[in-house]
Amino acid sequence: MGEALNTGALEWKSQQQMTSLQLDPAYHSAIPHQTPPPDLEGHPITQGVTVPVLPTIYHGTAVASQPPPPAGNARSVSTTTTRDGPVVNGYSSDTSIPGSPTGTFSTFSMTSTLESRVFREDGGRRFQAQNDEYSLPNDEQELQRLEYQHRAIKAGQKGINYLGPMPGNLGEGMRALDVGCGTGIWAIEMAQEFPHVEWVATDLTPIQRDSDLPDNLHFVQNDITQGLPFPDASFDLVHARLLVMGIRNWKFIIEEVLRVLKPGGMLYHVECDFPWGLIGVPEDEWRDRAPGHCKFQDYLKMAVETRGYEPELSKVLPRLMRNSGQVRDVSQIKTYLPLWGWSHEPHMHQSGVIMRPDAEDIPNSVQIVIMDTCEIPAIRYEQLKRGYLDELGKPDATTAVPFSHTFGWKI
Ligand SMILES: C[S@@+](CC[C@H](N)C(=O)[O-])C[C@H]1O[C@@H](n2cnc3c(N)ncnc32)[C@H](O)[C@@H]1O
Repeated sequence: MGEALNTGALEWKSQQQMTSLQLDPAYHSAIPHQTPPPDLEGHPITQGVTVPVLPTIYHGTAVASQPPPPAGNARSVSTTTTRDGPVVNGYSSDTSIPGSPTGTFSTFSMTSTLESRVFREDGGRRFQAQNDEYSLPNDEQELQRLEYQHRAIKAGQKGINYLGPMPGNLGEGMRALDVGCGTGIWAIEMAQEFPHVEWVATDLTPIQRDSDLPDNLHFVQNDITQGLPFPDASFDLVHARLLVMGIRNWKFIIEEVLRVLKPGGMLYHVECDFPWGLIGVPEDEWRDRAPGHCKFQDYLKMAVETRGYEPELSKVLPRLMRNSGQVRDVSQIKTYLPLWGWSHEPHMHQSGVIMRPDAEDIPNSVQIVIMDTCEIPAIRYEQLKRGYLDELGKPDATTAVPFSHTFGWKI
């Protein structure tokens, strides 16, 4: 990977030169030109970007700490120190959990003017302000939750970052894209595991980690609902995980993913369905075993539907792939993410143990979207939340998030 790879439009640089990724000027001429905000001009981490404001390309470096939340904020990020080390909002930075997150995140360095264009504040949490589709926060507390979620998913997959036959599309000199990468942790680990592959990871907001980044990974700020900023047939693999609370028009997403895939390229989507039930228990017994969990799920599913998201992507995604007429061998692997350590299977048990603090924080992440869409007052939400929390750890309440890995290959 010493020489620059010239794709014609999208140019990958050698490792030493990989501080900027050149985008296709022809593609950009199709995007309405925006005047860059003065804050962005000359900003150190946007070097090499000579095209309109969106997307912003950066490399995860030169970032600054997130500013402290406003004083008196009801759900601000709180850091306390215990015998076992610092705890941020319930998440330990103890590295004794194999591969546990470091507990440190940084965000894109930006002026307050620019930050106010990228983010907005609601109910004491920070949200993205790039589009009106993505409903979850993306502050430090949420980034911690996403890291724990990643570790829990990986533990349940026996320490592997995929379940389908992905390595066939990760050969020498191939290119891979992770859409909606969040903290970037999945892409970072995959770029380390497959160092001969050129990796690109996109997200609505520049919230990715800023340390120990592999040279074969670029982060690009992009809203996929507006199209991907890459030429046709650029990638051998496109992966996306847990975009369910951010996408309404999945037909467009599949079309766009197929556009940037080369023939023979793999599309690989990992999503969850709603409601989240109990494993090994007939559905008509869920409410008896875990009434608080089920009540909370009623509201979560209502919020998902009211916001126009797809509650059953395990059905929608294979259908869209098949109906496109452009995907062969559409396949699906179903699994689940335990919300706490109820499983006797060692990997799923470990997954649940890692997941539990995350599961305890989920009601905080979805609070605004549930209260807004279901129009319930805070006091009612607290009752709902309490009912759900009380059943985490309750014997027989084998609560879990149903996951599906749906994949196929572009014809
Ligand atoms: C629940 S997080 C999952 C992050 C990551 N894929 C993972 O599994 O850890 C969803 C991510 O998708 C991003 N996202 C949502 N809508 C998006 C869009 N239209 N374009 C790009 N990223 C988007 C959000 O900013 C967020 O980081």
